[in-house]
Amino acid sequence: MNKKIISIMIISLILGCVITSSYAATSEETTANNILNEKYSENSKILVVYFSRTGENYNVGNTEVGNTAMIASYIKEYLKADSYEIVPVKKYPEGYDECLNIAKTEQQENARPKIEGKIDNIDKYDTIILGYPIWYGDTPMIINTFLEENKLDGKTVLLFNTHEGSKDAGTYSKIAQKLSSSKVNTNGLNIQGQTARTAEGKQQTIQWLKEQGL
Ligand SMILES: Cc1cc2nc3c(=O)[nH]c(=O)nc-3n(C[C@H](O)[C@H](O)[C@H](O)COP(=O)(O)O)c2cc1C
Repeated sequence: MNKKIISIMIISLILGCVITSSYAATSEETTANNILNEKYSENSKILVVYFSRTGENYNVGNTEVGNTAMIASYIKEYLKADSYEIVPVKKYPEGYDECLNIAKTEQQENARPKIEGKIDNIDKYDTIILGYPIWYGDTPMIINTFLEENKLDGKTVLLFNTHEGSKDAGTYSKIAQKLSSSKVNTNGLNIQGQTARTAEGKQQTIQWLKEQGL
């Protein structure tokens, strides 16, 4: 084989590895996905509800499982709880900048983006653990859709979120005001997006659950 062919083969190999690693889910993402898709228990009285976006995101590259979904998977696994993903009828763009524009417009218009499907028998759950990312210093507007469409009266509601610096951005007390007939625990868990994807994020999540007596 001449030198030129060998060089082409090496370049192809390197390119192949780069492309594979930028598109393949990490093993953590695969595990999280398996956990989120698993039905744990017929008797679970705790439901983990979460909204999370996949695609290009700040600080974490291109995700196949979003930061908030990673936390949801730790909670679901630890508590052996059921989970429900809030899926928008109109999917948010993979591109970060396009998503920023849409989220901003939705907030300015006080929109209520539609949710696909419904929770199966919400009455069977006495505790809802609700998670979301911070978008423009607030919950994504679709969280309002969820809170207005589902009757959470009398239920215990715990909150968690991921962010890039805003912590909970005051959303825990806002949700507590909105859900005045529920028992909202405002001692929520907020974790920076990048940390959410690490062993440290998992450990912080379990620690928080223990502190809440779960
Ligand atoms: C549209 C949009 C707006 C955002 N606004 C904020 C913000 O105001 N404050 C903040 O700390 N992070 C903000 N972020 C960062 C996200 O909260 C953070 O990346 C989060 O972990 C994303 O979670 P997800 O992967 O579950 O969607 C924003 C991200 C997006 C896409």
